[in-house]
Amino acid sequence: MDMTLSTLPEDALLTPHMAAPLELAIVLPTFNERDNLAPLMDRIADALGPVGWEVLVVDDNSADGTSDEARRLALSDPRIRVIERIGRRGLSSAAIEGFCATAAPYAAVMDADHQHDPKLLVPMLASVKAGEADVAVASRFADGASMAEWNRPDREKLSGMANTLARKLTGVDLSDPMSGYFLLPTATARELAPKLSAIGFKILLDLLATSEKPLRVKDFPMNFSARRSGESKLDRAIAFDFLAGLYDKSFGRVIPTRFALFGTVGLIGVVVHMALLYLFLAAGTQFSIGQAVATFGAMTFNFWLNNFLTYRDRRLTESKAVFWGWVSFIAACSIGAFANVAVATTLHDRGLHEVLAALVGIGIGSVWNYALSSRFVWGR
Ligand code: GDD
Ligand code: MN
Repeated sequence: MDMTLSTLPEDALLTPHMAAPLELAIVLPTFNERDNLAPLMDRIADALGPVGWEVLVVDDNSADGTSDEARRLALSDPRIRVIERIGRRGLSSAAIEGFCATAAPYAAVMDADHQHDPKLLVPMLASVKAGEADVAVASRFADGASMAEWNRPDREKLSGMANTLARKLTGVDLSDPMSGYFLLPTATARELAPKLSAIGFKILLDLLATSEKPLRVKDFPMNFSARRSGESKLDRAIAFDFLAGLYDKSFGRVIPTRFALFGTVGLIGVVVHMALLYLFLAAGTQFSIGQAVATFGAMTFNFWLNNFLTYRDRRLTESKAVFWGWVSFIAACSIGAFANVAVATTLHDRGLHEVLAALVGIGIGSVWNYALSSRFVWGR
């Protein structure tokens, strides 16, 4: 018999994770949260006590080494698990990934930056387990809630407007549909997962709006704290994602959100093209040269804007990736332009009205550009 084992006290090998059956998965989407992880794990362990739990850190390849830190913590506590995603971004999709990767019957999502108090997990779990509600939501706006350092009137106003819209859309009356802190049976989340919006939308709202039978929600007033370390990632994207989500839920089935964005960017590109062309002509440049520069400039602009908005969840950021993305975008669009001209000319030759022929050409060119660039520029 191994001496080291026999000299240990009897219960020393019973690490806490073996003490209770797995009940709750806490999904922590992370993006540059390295320094927040270790103290958060302590707070979670402390708050949950005897409950069987695991944490899923779903990290989008953070530059600050968040996933390495998570792995380091996991070495001494197997209740901590890590999902590292390469080349993907998004809080919602990270949450879904977490739901799909756990065997725990209940799952919670929370910020990894200490804005959400893990102490609420116990009453939230108890309430959903008891069938009092289908989803427990920690709310910043319910009676008794408070917010430290939420001295951001712009965001507060935006939040209020978004909440009203959200309530109209889901038909569910809850005080904080934008909350990033909630708990539900994992099976519910997994059932809805295939039908959730691909982009935008807050995950909670998405779940509520997608469910065919209205989900019963219970609010838990929370003290929304200040972030412990690092900075918020949602500030700039929050409004845009919200609008994209609204569009997706309303018209997304008719014209997919991404294609609609791509088309809008294309239209803005036409304006850029005209502006450039006009500038060059005004400076006395030959038409053919002005047109060539404007075409190139507009394509470059479109590449940049698509990378910034349409494909913000798959954005190319490394300079080499951006360069090759730009090259392949221009290549794709050039073939698209060729198809556009060929089709429009053929139709025109067969007697179709000029404007109609041009529109059909543009339509075919756009679909082509979209198909090619989503596959070869931002595809993986
Ligand atoms: N994996 C992954 N990928 N995680 C992300 C990403 C991403 O692209 N973006 C943000 N996160 C992580 C952050 O690291 C953090 O743990 C959590 O998601 C929330 O992001 P924050 O940057 O802290 O967001 P916030 O505090 O501004 O927004 C909070 O309040 C909103 C309401 O106004 C969040 O709780 C939101 O969920 C909430 O809607
Ligand atoms: Mn936060």
